[in-house]
Amino acid sequence: MARIAIDWNELRARAVQAAQNAYAPYSGLHVGAAGLTSSGRIYVGCNVENASYGLTLCAECGLVSSVTAAGEADLIAVSVVARDGRPLAPCGRCRQLLVEHGSVGLLFDQGEASAPILLRDLLPDAWRGPEDVPSTHTARGD
Ligand code: THU
Repeated sequence: MARIAIDWNELRARAVQAAQNAYAPYSGLHVGAAGLTSSGRIYVGCNVENASYGLTLCAECGLVSSVTAAGEADLIAVSVVARDGRPLAPCGRCRQLLVEHGSVGLLFDQGEASAPILLRDLLPDAWRGPEDVPSTHTARGD
C-alpha cells in the first residue's frame, strides 16, 4: 500500500473546526479530534458532555465512532486540540480506545513545537484487542 503523507496542519485545522461544535457547557473545555486513516480519509469528533457529568463523551470517542461507522479501523495519525488550537493529551480511556482502533504505528500530535509521539508509548503494555483478553474470562464466566 502507498505510504500516506500526514499533513499535521490540516489535521489540526480539522480538529479546531470540530471543537467549534463541541457540547461542553459543564467544563467549558471545547475539544476537537481529527484522525487520518490508512485510506487517506480524515475523520473528526468533538466532546459531548451531559448533566450526569460521568457519561461525558470525549472528542476521541466521537472520532473513533465515526471511523468505525465508516467501516474503517486503521487510524495512523491523530490530533486533539482545544478550541484555541492548544494540543491536548488523551485521557486514559481514550488512550485505550485509540490503541485498539489505530494502527500499530499510530502517531499522536504534540503540537507544532514537538515531534509527534507514538500512541503506544502513551499506553505501555496495552491490551490491543480481543486477543489480549484471557480466554478463561468469558462472558459466561466459564
Ligand atoms: N476531554 C476530551 O474530549 N478528550 C480527552 O482526552 C480529555 C478530556 C473532554 C472531556 C470533557 O468534556 C472535557 O474535556 C473536560 O475534561
